[in-house]
Amino acid sequence: MKTFENKVAVVTGSARGIGYEIALHYAREGASVVVADISLEQSAAAASEIAKQTGAKTLGIALNVTDENSCSQAVDETVKTFGALDILVNNAGITKDGLMLRMKESDFAAVIDVNLKGAFLMSKAAVKFMFKQHSGRIVNIASVVGQAGQAGQANYSASKAGLIGLTKTMAREFASRKILVNAVAPGFVHTKMTESLSEEAKAKILEQIPLKEICEPAEIAKAVLFLTGSSSEYITGQVLAVNGGLYM
Ligand code: NAI
Repeated sequence: MKTFENKVAVVTGSARGIGYEIALHYAREGASVVVADISLEQSAAAASEIAKQTGAKTLGIALNVTDENSCSQAVDETVKTFGALDILVNNAGITKDGLMLRMKESDFAAVIDVNLKGAFLMSKAAVKFMFKQHSGRIVNIASVVGQAGQAGQANYSASKAGLIGLTKTMAREFASRKILVNAVAPGFVHTKMTESLSEEAKAKILEQIPLKEICEPAEIAKAVLFLTGSSSEYITGQVLAVNGGLYM
């Protein structure tokens, strides 16, 4: 029997990048997977690709994590289709970088809205259902810059630091219902989000990483599966750093 057979996992922002890789890993391990991203077309395409590759049951839906109704609908659709919601991965995230003194208020607000408020709204909707189940797992995708700060990312690092606080608070509030909440804090991962960095910036980053490699999305997926599987039933409120030793 596969590790996540009979489990239902929702991964936000999973039409591409790290989220896609997480959804793919769950599907390979037998879970039914909901690909929930802004564009229905892209979610549906990712969901059918994952089903084709793994034979798992998948569903692609449109979700805007900044909209409370959209979050409730995503949970309703998941439960209607698969009859449960065991795992939520809050992965949707955006960047709008710039030095603090030049950063527009709207760029600060937009990043907080998706990265932090989005995880709050989606968790709230999912937990209402998980309460009835008396079980559930939530993983928030934070970032090394939420732990260490980063010049040019006041909005993003604040959102990710906030996500760590949210993780620890949810872990305390929901522990009595056996809902475990943890975070994974990736370092620099090879995706579209980091593709736009200049070669010079990439070389500078590599210099600082003790393992001297940029992280592959699969490494993040493996950490997320660990935190939602049977090997981590006594772990809650933690931040698992997957960063090649970048920040210890
Ligand atoms: P990505 O940009 O490739 O994927 C993000 C996904 O989120 C996209 O598919 C996008 O459509 C979706 N999304 C954006 N706004 C949304 C909204 N309002 N509602 C629903 N979906 C929305 O990014 P990547 O690199 O895969 O990042 C995934 C997560 O990992 C993010 O939370 C990011 O902050 C985090 N992370 C990424 C790192 C990296 O080096 N790539 C490092 C540390 C953390």
